[in-house]
Amino acid sequence: MDFTVLTLFPELISSFFEHGMMARGIKKKLIAGHCINIRDFSCDRHNTVDDRPYGGGSGMIMKPESLKAAILAAKKRTPDSSVILMTPQGTRFNQGKAMEAALQKKGLIFVCGRYEGIDERIYSTLVDEEISIGDYVMTGGELASMVIIDSITRLIPGVLGSLESSKSDSFTDDRLEYAQYTRPEDFEGLKVPEVLLSGNHEKINQWRKNSSLQRTFLKRPDLFNKTRPTAEEKKIIKQWCQELKILVRE
Ligand code: ADE
Repeated sequence: MDFTVLTLFPELISSFFEHGMMARGIKKKLIAGHCINIRDFSCDRHNTVDDRPYGGGSGMIMKPESLKAAILAAKKRTPDSSVILMTPQGTRFNQGKAMEAALQKKGLIFVCGRYEGIDERIYSTLVDEEISIGDYVMTGGELASMVIIDSITRLIPGVLGSLESSKSDSFTDDRLEYAQYTRPEDFEGLKVPEVLLSGNHEKINQWRKNSSLQRTFLKRPDLFNKTRPTAEEKKIIKQWCQELKILVRE
């Protein structure tokens, strides 16, 4: 997977590529990370990349000429990449989109806007997709692009582990991940559930399904509107009901 980020703050992005998982993925040649400074493509001697909005109003708008030249330069290096514009007006990013990109995309070019926005003519001619990371407005798309690159990269086989290990991630299949424990067995009187010490993998799997379902119910019940409980989950819920009846009777 080849990532290119078009930005007015290249140092923000290059330091992201130089650390942790990103640096390891680049070293292993599983991913590539490039950064293009939009200001390098400005068309005047003052290096201007923004101007006042036609029709008046506050703030500055990013000019189309330099943005277009930067996008074309990125496209020239990786013609198969999709051009993604980071904007709060875009489609909401989620784990499904991260998985889809990790499995299907050869490369992504992120256009990070600053100021009050970018000239409308860029949206309509050069952008394949507009993506938002949530319903709030940041001062630029850089943080959003890093959020997306991080979540895609950790799903690329070989970067962290196998795709297999990400199957238990929260939001895969619209459920939260099960509770996790490590040593010590007893932490200030709070004990690790016994089944996790048993070595019985079938029972451990069953416990984890139960835990994942319970957490989703308590923390993110809205996820059941997206994916209704499966037959297996209904069985677990019935069991909870039986256990609750016993508790109420007692
Ligand atoms: N740029 C500014 N706010 C943003 C958001 N919420 N998502 C993506 N890009 C942005």
